[in-house]
Amino acid sequence: MAKFRLVHGDCVPVLAGLPRQRVAIISDPPYGINLQTDYKANKRGKLAQSNDFAPIVGDDKPFDPSHMLGFETVVLFGANNFASKLPDTTGWIVWDKRDGMTSNDQSDCEIAWTNRNRAARLFRHRWNGMIKDSEKTQRRLHPAQKPVALFRWVITLLEIPSDVLIVDPYMGSGACGVAAGELGYDFLGCEIVEQYFKVASKRVTAAFAQQGMFNQSAPNNRLHWTVGESPDLPSFSTLEGFTAPEADTTPPASQ
Ligand SMILES: C[S@@+](CC[C@H](N)C(=O)[O-])C[C@H]1O[C@@H](n2cnc3c(N)ncnc32)[C@H](O)[C@@H]1O
Repeated sequence: MAKFRLVHGDCVPVLAGLPRQRVAIISDPPYGINLQTDYKANKRGKLAQSNDFAPIVGDDKPFDPSHMLGFETVVLFGANNFASKLPDTTGWIVWDKRDGMTSNDQSDCEIAWTNRNRAARLFRHRWNGMIKDSEKTQRRLHPAQKPVALFRWVITLLEIPSDVLIVDPYMGSGACGVAAGELGYDFLGCEIVEQYFKVASKRVTAAFAQQGMFNQSAPNNRLHWTVGESPDLPSFSTLEGFTAPEADTTPPASQ
């Protein structure tokens, strides 16, 4: 039975306590680019409904990925922004999010570094305002939200064994955790902003519940850590499901 554990707080101490083997870090951290997240104010909402979001925590300074290296599998989106801090690899992943559409002022693609020295691979999936190949009726919940389909594709591409724990230290809206749940993997996720933690909790819980893998009555399921606490790190055998806190999935207002 696949299980998940979600941490509301800083991922750095959590990662420090994890084993390096049988763990796959698949994540989309802050890129260190001061991403403009006030989409509405930026008049991006002319054609599609847009929302203003608060800036992404950690995006205001260069990102150092060193705490995520050394694990059995590592996949880091946005790595073109901090490539000088990563070892060489052949195994880059490119997500073409226009797939033939005209370029605009945003990137045509997003790029992920992997620690797999293998052929570079391309995923084509449109994700541009209202024009999306998936989640078409769902509103944006996070300024850097990625499609669940992207994470499903990555996990499948890398042929991650079923006993490996998938970890997303920077969950945002929880897209990676949803994909992990749908594919039947154990999952550990962290998110430092309470609003996004709640959104991710709701989505990840639903994904695991859908698969019938949710065990709400499990003992010792103290799974909602708060910022500043030092969690006992999960061992694979004690990961359990938990009750998601109530999430308001209406888009956040700018703060
Ligand atoms: C680029 S976003 C992830 C978006 C996500 N891939 C999605 O599809 O919604 C990075 C997230 O990391 C969170 N974050 C930043 N620093 C963190 C830290 N030290 N520990 C945990 N989460 C952190 C931010 O609040 C933000 O939600």
